Amino acid sequence: MTEERGPRIVLGVCGGIAAYKAVEVCRLLVDAGAHVVPVLTKEATRFVGALTFSALASEPAQASLWDEDTPIPHTRLGQSADLILVVPATAHLMARYAAGLADDLLTATLLATRAPVLLCPAMHTEMWEHASVRENQATLERRGVGIVPPAVGHLAGGDTGAGRLADPQEIASRALAVAARGGSPAAARDLAGQHVVVSAGGTREALDPVRYLTNRSSGKQGHALAEAAARRGAEVKLVTASGLALPADVQPAVTRIDVESAADMETALHALSEWADIVIMAAAVADFRPKVAATRKLSKEDGLPELVLEPTPDILQGLVAGRHPGQVLVGFAAETNDVAERGRAKLRRKGVDLLVVNDVSAPGAGFDHDTNAVTIFGADGSTGEIALTSKDAVAHAVLDRVIAHQRQNRSSK
Ligand code: C5P
Repeated sequence: MTEERGPRIVLGVCGGIAAYKAVEVCRLLVDAGAHVVPVLTKEATRFVGALTFSALASEPAQASLWDEDTPIPHTRLGQSADLILVVPATAHLMARYAAGLADDLLTATLLATRAPVLLCPAMHTEMWEHASVRENQATLERRGVGIVPPAVGHLAGGDTGAGRLADPQEIASRALAVAARGGSPAAARDLAGQHVVVSAGGTREALDPVRYLTNRSSGKQGHALAEAAARRGAEVKLVTASGLALPADVQPAVTRIDVESAADMETALHALSEWADIVIMAAAVADFRPKVAATRKLSKEDGLPELVLEPTPDILQGLVAGRHPGQVLVGFAAETNDVAERGRAKLRRKGVDLLVVNDVSAPGAGFDHDTNAVTIFGADGSTGEIALTSKDAVAHAVLDRVIAHQRQNRSSK
């Protein structure tokens, strides 16, 4: 009998006040079946004792390069890891890692590994926004290091701002998804062989041949999802009401179907439903349309036109009704208040596997921005918060969640 082995995760912990939250991440990973080896910096042990990690993890916590029982511990740790996760990653750790310093067990392990690396920074807003930290992050990301960006919230000392460690649950699920797919967190081809359909943009509902009703959706999030899925190896069909262009290098993997109205989008999506393993409805479909679209341009001479609206079909509802076994359906929703409550209720009402809720009232999130902040609700009761970050990073986080959902479904069969 072959024994099923969970991923081997080196959990690096640095000396920041958020180190206490790494204890929760450690517990969540172990509960999920991972083999966790904590590696603490000297400063981390000022915040949380090594004993706490040793008691919860799969192996005793380590903090020294100079252990007589295990010579060269960093190469053993680095070579055997499926993932190195650092929680919290301080400005100091990011600088040392970016510069290639290896002056303690954690930095030496980071240099001695080919495993994917995920850093979860946490620090004061001024530090997070400092040019050196920005540049170190950019350097590390260019090398394929994954970053789970910090959230905006309460910080040590009573301050509030960007720099608060991401939610431990979110960190644990990102870590497990990356460890499972292997390779660079930015460039894994873990959707190879899968058929993904993405809808994007705000539909346009004709009033007459020259006028239409629409909404503020730019299509950026939907296009980022199509691009991210293609980069991860999927065959993608993008049904889009947005005029945005896709980068040239992903175009061979994406079939683009341009549509205008909710009715066009419905026809296109229903035709693709059978083919799709995953459908992501990121489009802002109009809820109402003019009951009658004039066949010739309405002119002032005809007097004020009477605008009679009718509801559009709920495309997602139709897709849920006609879904085939194993197909994953993801809906999007824009909310301005009571995100958790409304998100959960909508997830149930729509019957989808995952619902991604944009808080469009949050600064920098939602319509037409290059950044977004979302909460992902799962039909299994899970909730994940993605703090303000690029729409590309949100797209990857959504895809991580989709893959985790597929894995869960397979293992429960
Ligand atoms: O109910 P609400 O419009 O907030 O639901 C949003 C989700 O439903 C999105 O995924 C959107 O693409 C989808 N939708 C749809 N057909 C509509 C309206 C919304 O598929 N007519």
